[in-house]
Amino acid sequence: MSDFKRFDLKNLDDLRAALDQRGLELPISNNLAILGEKVVLAGRTLANRFVVQPMEGVDGDPVTGAPGELTLRRYRRFAGGGSGLIWAESLAVVPEGASGARQLRVTRENLDAYKRLVDATRQSALDEAGHAVTCVVQLTHSGRYSRPGGVVTPLKAQDNPELDRALGMEDLKPVSDDYLMRLQDAFVDSACLMAQAGFDGIDMKAVHGYLVAELLGARQREGRFGGSYENRTRFLRECVQRMMEELPPSCFVTTRTTVLEPSPWPYGWGVAERGVKGGQGQTAWTLDLSEPKRLMRELAGMGVPLFNVSMGYPRFQPYMNRPHDNPLAGKAAPPEYPLEGVVRFQQIAREMQRGAPELPLVTAGLAWLRHLMPQVAAGLVEQGWCTLIGQGRGAFAYPNSVRDILEKGLMNPRKCCITCSLCSQIMADGLGRGGCPVRDKDIYGPELVKGRAWAKQQEEKR
Ligand SMILES: Cc1cc2nc3c(=O)[nH]c(=O)nc-3n(C[C@H](O)[C@H](O)[C@H](O)COP(=O)(O)O)c2cc1C
Ligand code: SF4
Repeated sequence: MSDFKRFDLKNLDDLRAALDQRGLELPISNNLAILGEKVVLAGRTLANRFVVQPMEGVDGDPVTGAPGELTLRRYRRFAGGGSGLIWAESLAVVPEGASGARQLRVTRENLDAYKRLVDATRQSALDEAGHAVTCVVQLTHSGRYSRPGGVVTPLKAQDNPELDRALGMEDLKPVSDDYLMRLQDAFVDSACLMAQAGFDGIDMKAVHGYLVAELLGARQREGRFGGSYENRTRFLRECVQRMMEELPPSCFVTTRTTVLEPSPWPYGWGVAERGVKGGQGQTAWTLDLSEPKRLMRELAGMGVPLFNVSMGYPRFQPYMNRPHDNPLAGKAAPPEYPLEGVVRFQQIAREMQRGAPELPLVTAGLAWLRHLMPQVAAGLVEQGWCTLIGQGRGAFAYPNSVRDILEKGLMNPRKCCITCSLCSQIMADGLGRGGCPVRDKDIYGPELVKGRAWAKQQEEKR
């Protein structure tokens, strides 16, 4: 039976009791000063250990793919809020790989718009937070979840019976090796453009079931990108290598890479050869981090200076990568108490960080803890579970949280994210521009309403 229940923890004692009751382990520390420590990487000094995680705002210009006025507002707020590193959201490198009509896209023509975005982000950090910020940008291809111009047009890396059935893609042929080789060029060209735009680092995104992540588990695929570990990781490694060769030395290459694509063997990534049936709502897989760790160490050996992790397919197991209280409209409540998801994420991050202790690792998935997050974050860093603390939904809801934590030693519970999934709902509906309709209601309330109405109309037409 599901153990699901919504957040009802008032203080750290309640959190400790909830952990004890379930036999869960999560470090907690009052040493919040550790979160304000500077971190040196790739020749830069991060002002503190906080990172704004990539959060797609679906507010780009549908024609050009350039950032819009709300994009600029979001990044100014993120940077002004005090994080040392802003990890900008996923930008599509080819039009057919966009997740929706309003996803940001890289083209030669919109380079100046990205220059303005980077300049505005840096200026806001200087003006509001009083420090220089480091800016990374994430490059992507949405693969099975591609929706260019808002029209579902999937592209997949391999046949995967379970995903194919769930997504109605049984008749779809995997993309060819030729397509993937052209796509590598597009990733590298886009990286060069984003370096010109002024980003400090480029993230070769390989996470959340998108095309590059799916390739990591393509054991059944033939040709140069499938089968053996070397072939499955080739696309990512070659892109990283080529970017390192072609980017100016001032721009580093990093990756947000999945540590778990939860499909049963021989599909999936981070799964053992012998899977066991999971619990309610889960598929048959058992975690095995040996390949993700090997890849992380190889990338570190190539010169990748930091590593960002996530896990799960947000479409099917959203409770894994963003533990939450409320699901998307019409979807089931999480099959577990969200604290279990928070702990699972942090424990997997710990295993990865221990696999390469010298490589700064960014964690995520902490928003459900609300105002209790800072002490857990401090515990995670103190105990070596991660180096940097990523905030995704927290940055949408409460962009100034980092300044509150570092200056006042607390988060205001009335400003925290309540893990209601409405920002994900805007994305899923595909019309409104994304942000937090709860804590930034005047701007995003109408965007949510508009998107919901449109999605319902589409539903009725079907
Ligand atoms: C609306 C929304 C958009 C997101 N966009 C991205 C994205 O562009 N790239 C990415 O790697 N993760 C994306 N994520 C995942 C977040 O970066 C983060 O991992 C997740 O929200 C869990 O962390 P949190 O508890 O701090 O929110 C998104 C999540 C949400 C809710
Ligand atoms: S809409 Fe706001 S409160 Fe709800 S999950 Fe997103 S960021 Fe959190």
